[in-house]
Amino acid sequence: GKSAQGYSYEILLEIANFLLSRTSVRPRIGVICGSGMGSYWKEGSLAETIEDATCVDYEDIPNFPISTVEGHHGKLVFGKLQGVPVVAMQGRFHYYEGYPLWKCCLPVRVMKLLGVETLIVTNAAGGLNPSYKIGDIMIVRDHINMMGFAGNNPLHGPNDERFGPRFPPMNKAYKVEFRKIAKEVAEELNMDGIVREGVYTCLGGPNFETVAELNMLKMVGVDAVGMSTVHEVITARHCDMNVFALSLITNECVTSYDDAEANHEEVLDVGKMRQDVLRKFVSRLVDRFVQD
Ligand code: 6GU
Repeated sequence: GKSAQGYSYEILLEIANFLLSRTSVRPRIGVICGSGMGSYWKEGSLAETIEDATCVDYEDIPNFPISTVEGHHGKLVFGKLQGVPVVAMQGRFHYYEGYPLWKCCLPVRVMKLLGVETLIVTNAAGGLNPSYKIGDIMIVRDHINMMGFAGNNPLHGPNDERFGPRFPPMNKAYKVEFRKIAKEVAEELNMDGIVREGVYTCLGGPNFETVAELNMLKMVGVDAVGMSTVHEVITARHCDMNVFALSLITNECVTSYDDAEANHEEVLDVGKMRQDVLRKFVSRLVDRFVQD
């Protein structure tokens, strides 16, 4: 069953079967809604606009992690977006909450066992690329797994071939066709002025980075920095899911000692400001991704 490396295939299958017994929805697309996308509020967020919704609180799912963020009850929302059966995570698990990476990514494997083929991952991030503005939406072209450099990886430990290979490739982590579609959709919605494409990295948090750290990341080609997503994408690619990810740029990274510091309120405010735009964008992507 439960080991230092994670839950067995059988336990994850039990979780998936429990969820399938709670809903008649058979999701094709999974969406992880981060703090850029309504994991902290209700009205108007993507997860709240899913039709014919069945919600399952994380705390009611056997063996599921429980969110530690105060006043914030995470849940899975099953239903339809643009007629497409989906499952959305409203609230994700972060490394800084104390979970090992494999546990942060457990829901991704559960989604795989639910039949999800495509994962859409969203997050809030600080913009390092000097041309990025607050409120921009960055399509993730690629990531740098900083935590992986230090040996921390969600796939650390014995490999179960039923999920995927021991040494999964990551050169095509973010599906090129999806990124192309996203740029087309951005144009259709007259969002091309705020949509960018770039490289994301995840740091463990919970503190924001020092000026020296941010300057280092900028130097190695990072466009946006956050505290999630990378390990979820690695887990999803390991089990051969198609991946699309986007970052909502909620603040400019402090790369000089004179700048004002980042704060969590600002991150949430920008999420709120962009929620209608993001909801429309992701809804249309869901529709287009299943046709692709
Ligand atoms: Cl500046 N850093 C990190 N790690 N995550 C963020 C952020 C910065 N701004 C929003 N999320």
